Amino acid sequence: MRAIIVRPPTPGAQLIDVPSPDLAPGTVGVDVLECGICGTDRDIVEGKYGRVPTGLPYLILGHENLGRVREITAGINGFVEGDLVVATVRRGCGRCRFCLTNQSDFCETGDFTERGIKGAPGYMADRYAEFPQYLVRVPPRLGSVAVLLEPLSVVEKAILQGQRILDRKEPTPGRPRVEPVRALVAGTGAVGMLAAIVLAMRGYEVTAIDRHGDDTFAGRLLARIGAQHVNVATGFDALGAARFDLVVEATGSVAVDFSLIVRLGPNGVLVLTGIPDAAGPPSTVPGGPLFRDVVLGNQAIVGSVNANRTYFESGLQDLAAAEDRWPGLVSSLITSRRPLEQYAAVLAARPGGEVKSVLVVRRDDAPRSS
Ligand code: BGC
Repeated sequence: MRAIIVRPPTPGAQLIDVPSPDLAPGTVGVDVLECGICGTDRDIVEGKYGRVPTGLPYLILGHENLGRVREITAGINGFVEGDLVVATVRRGCGRCRFCLTNQSDFCETGDFTERGIKGAPGYMADRYAEFPQYLVRVPPRLGSVAVLLEPLSVVEKAILQGQRILDRKEPTPGRPRVEPVRALVAGTGAVGMLAAIVLAMRGYEVTAIDRHGDDTFAGRLLARIGAQHVNVATGFDALGAARFDLVVEATGSVAVDFSLIVRLGPNGVLVLTGIPDAAGPPSTVPGGPLFRDVVLGNQAIVGSVNANRTYFESGLQDLAAAEDRWPGLVSSLITSRRPLEQYAAVLAARPGGEVKSVLVVRRDDAPRSS
């Protein structure tokens, strides 16, 4: 079968023929339809991230996926041939208390693998085989947007972590709980836009920042969901004096991370999701005033990575809700769909105007529009 392979830390990606995966007892065989591309894939192609599976000469790339069930081994319930499925990414260490309770996204040993990223083959190939507990069945009406489910799962987890920290405040007896309402999203790539959409659906007052004017795809989409857009190309002063209860960072920029801390309101939470370049330039910040305010303001800074199955499931609910509320909005985040053969151009650099680039592995004629 065809597969896009990489050999980190050696840079580069190739489309080659590789053996098809074995359909071991208890697994489901899946034909891959689409794979999304994100910064992690590009970092792996640059040789900055990722790990080849033990004993193999290469890593099959790709973790954002959508496929169709092709074959089911004996004894599997809950799937039929032709089902649309999205596979989760992380496979637990099998030892720590989190991996043993289906929360490998909180693995404590670090001995997990991630398909297409760290030590396990990914989905940029014609086929893969997987155990059913790692497959999430997608309703046909969400087929045109389901390749976004994996990045959405990361967003779902990040927002829930932030919300849980905001919820630590005890409600005043006899008075309604004061809901946090002001959210700031940093970055208008796919993760940032999905975060803005989910937060808007949950009733937050959303502001999103990037380094572009309002007359862009992101600016127009944010206006449609009732969110404010602020261009911080010339500095965060463009935000005026605004402070936020929940800040979701989706840029991977250390400079942005520091600029966001001072945007937290009292009791506010900053959730970092972008993965900075470990070899990036060192930064110098005036830590005294920064962390003094964090303490005096009961503020929290939390990292959030990956997502377990529950976040894929809540993501499906949110995809359906977004389709109902703003038909076609989520699918417009997919700014290009190109055949697998065009992998090199798409993986090399982020094309201008990209929100989400998708590689089409297999054309699927079955109706899957929203
Ligand atoms: C993926 C996550 C993964 C993380 C770290 C992200 O791009 O979406 O599933 O855990 O990279 O490897």
